[in-house]
Amino acid sequence: MKLELLKKKINKKKIFITGNTGFVGSWLSIMLTFFGAKILGFSLKKKDKKFISNHVQFKKNIQTIYSDINLIDKYKKSIKKFNPQIVIHLASQPLVLESYKNTKKTFLTNIMGTVSLFETLKEIKSIKKIIIFTSDKVYRNLNGKILNENSSLGGIDPYSSSKSCQDIITTTYKSSIYKKKIEIIILRAGNIIGGGDWNKYRIIPDIFRCLYSFKKIQIRNPNAIRPWQHIFEILNFFNLAIIKKTKNSNEPEIFNIAPNLKSNIKVIKLVSLIKKIGSYRKLKVIIKKKKQYESSILRLSSLNAKRKINYKPKLNLENTIKLTVNWYDAYYKKKDMYNYSLKQLKDYFNN
Ligand SMILES: NC(=O)c1ccc[n+]([C@@H]2O[C@H](COP(=O)([O-])OP(=O)(O)OC[C@H]3O[C@@H](n4cnc5c(N)ncnc54)[C@H](O)[C@@H]3O)[C@@H](O)[C@H]2O)c1
Repeated sequence: MKLELLKKKINKKKIFITGNTGFVGSWLSIMLTFFGAKILGFSLKKKDKKFISNHVQFKKNIQTIYSDINLIDKYKKSIKKFNPQIVIHLASQPLVLESYKNTKKTFLTNIMGTVSLFETLKEIKSIKKIIIFTSDKVYRNLNGKILNENSSLGGIDPYSSSKSCQDIITTTYKSSIYKKKIEIIILRAGNIIGGGDWNKYRIIPDIFRCLYSFKKIQIRNPNAIRPWQHIFEILNFFNLAIIKKTKNSNEPEIFNIAPNLKSNIKVIKLVSLIKKIGSYRKLKVIIKKKKQYESSILRLSSLNAKRKINYKPKLNLENTIKLTVNWYDAYYKKKDMYNYSLKQLKDYFNN
């Protein structure tokens, strides 16, 4: 869908987003605000100043309630007053390694946080649609098999298991409480890359932090294969999910979002492509295998999204990497990253 049409369809929509200060949520907030939507966010503040949600323009354009998701009920009045039509739930502890260190906190945020959200939303009558972002890690690891929306759930590490629970809880609220009153969509996507991610233990921010501080990058899981996709493809999905009406039944509509099969490559191959495309001759890699379990192959089919909402990935792997490399280079050249990010977004939706 082209830029002008998107603006027409999304203009003036009132959207409540949890987790809007993070990597995915900040891009989503910037894009939807640009399309004319009114956003109310609910998140913890990102401590790292490099996150774009700490940019003065972001704070000026996007109203955010800074609090813990498990305290959301205290803010019910303000959320009600905002009159949201759509809710997008992203607030989570999203890192596998962190979930080994802080297992209870991960479960509290990801599982009970989702319950707290649904309990608060029960009393907000303006809501027509809720979109919950779980993960491709919700599936039982069936090493190599292509997973569709009916594949068995059962994440093994604490993060994956918490996202499986989030997914099941969402189905329970839809089937037993909201039923046909509210449309509910679950998005399960694989590894997202792109500018603006400054989280720990993630390959892209690790690469750029090391590159620009002349350190060697340590790789934990060189042979793990992942479906790498650019954040803009995920934003493209969100636009379709916001605009299009899905089935009206007692079950949520579930969509896997995956890139073309050629974008399923090993971590080590991704690093070497970044090195080549960015001409980073000085980037040095060391392999440091880790003890904790992480799934080795995840392959997803997004046929359901293609059939039902006409979702198609636009970017090949090379362009995905180019957009990512260009964003971090611009950051380290001290460009104004709010405007730079907006320009990348406009170019993506104009092409
Ligand atoms: N980035 C990926 O590759 C990827 C892939 C699949 C799914 N996801 C899902 O997308 C969502 C966003 O991930 P991200 O990559 O942007 O991570 P992120 O860490 O950058 O953002 C997480 C957001 O959740 C908020 N949050 C965390 N704990 C909270 C709490 N207790 N109370 C309120 N807010 C809290 C943070 O403040 C932040 O706004 C998560 O649900 C994640 O599981 C991400």
